[in-house]
Amino acid sequence: MTGPATERASGAADPFVDGPRLAVTRLTLRNFRSYAEIEFSTSTRPVVLAGPNGAGKTNLLDAISLLSPGRGLRGSKLSEHVRRGPSAAPSDALWAVAATVTRGGESYEVGTGLTLGPNGGERRQVHLNGAPAQNSTDLGELVQMLWLTPAMDRLFIEGVSGRRKFLDRLVLGFEPDHARTATRYETAMRERARLLKFGPRDPAWLDALEHEMSEAGIAMAASRERTVSRLNAALAARGEAGAFPSAQLALEGETDLLLAEHGDGAASALRERLARARVRDAEAGRTTVGPHLTDLSVRHTQKRTHARECSTGEQKALLISIVLADAWELSKAQNGLAPLLLLDEIAAHLDSRRRLALFEEILALRAQAWMTGTDIEMFASLRAKADLFEVADSQPRLT
Ligand SMILES: Nc1ncnc2c1ncn2[C@@H]1O[C@H](COP(=O)(O)OP(=O)(O)O)[C@@H](O)[C@H]1O
Ligand SMILES: [Mg+2]
Repeated sequence: MTGPATERASGAADPFVDGPRLAVTRLTLRNFRSYAEIEFSTSTRPVVLAGPNGAGKTNLLDAISLLSPGRGLRGSKLSEHVRRGPSAAPSDALWAVAATVTRGGESYEVGTGLTLGPNGGERRQVHLNGAPAQNSTDLGELVQMLWLTPAMDRLFIEGVSGRRKFLDRLVLGFEPDHARTATRYETAMRERARLLKFGPRDPAWLDALEHEMSEAGIAMAASRERTVSRLNAALAARGEAGAFPSAQLALEGETDLLLAEHGDGAASALRERLARARVRDAEAGRTTVGPHLTDLSVRHTQKRTHARECSTGEQKALLISIVLADAWELSKAQNGLAPLLLLDEIAAHLDSRRRLALFEEILALRAQAWMTGTDIEMFASLRAKADLFEVADSQPRLT
């Protein structure tokens, strides 16, 4: 669907909802999952995508999420986004997502996609205002976003990697460099693991890699610690007043302990641990110490229990609390620009009181939340304040 939905959708100026925002106002997908080719426009207000299962709602959110560092909200391999079935006219890209992003009145053209390199290898491309960007970290500085998906309903119960990813996305909003630091750390970690496995076990080379790992690793831990402190203060200030429970976050990992205990000396402490762990790591075939093992622990403040012991609904409410607290903090840090919120199947899990409270908070934040659901009636109260699309067969139509 192509068209100037912006004018139709925005209606009369409303001082409460208008004003500077961070928003996607145009989205183009090519050969992306169920979409052969689509372009559509939105206003800067929240967006609702309603439609039956399989209509293509999550695919749209996934496409937007790829405009930030990493693998997006499904965490799929980049090649999994390639459309199976009839495609748009052939081009260099296996798939492509492009968007116009409005940021406090300035407009940016951003895009990402997967192309085939000369040797048949696949390469991620990132564009910013027509020029190739270094990597998706550059986009992260421009388009902050957070998401909640049905898969995250099990975040507190399942393995640590999901919680760590969630944590790192919170950190990225405040410190976009966190992505570069993590890449530095992981590159050195992989190289060390390769040396330990295949040799040569050159001590000078291993020293250099462990130096890099410990510097980057402690920087990662420090960024996480700053974000957790900031969010804990924000969550405490929110208190129990609203519809969502208050939460307390904590980092659990050896690296985080080293940082707490050694402060400025934490990097050399981590370097020593790594050096001592060489034989053990070689035998284990993995790196047994470092920030790649950190866990995020979440407690329900009022109930004084760990999130994993709460009901499914309470766990969802805790996650929403954290995301909202984070969105307010980010907005404060960015002159009132709240991050994009991608909230997949959000209405389904909430009773009507919490649903309305969530909508109100999104409006108060002036965040462009992209919300999906099967039943458009769930979003009826947003009709005058959001762009409502009905999605069927991967065709969004403004209603
Ligand atoms: N790579 C792909 N190529 C073509 N279709 C895909 C691809 N990946 C997913 N789909 C299809 O996209 C459709 C819409 O998926 P989704 O966006 O998750 O729907 P929903 O509206 O329920 O969120 C599904 O029917 C799925 O089979
Ligand atoms: Mg879906």
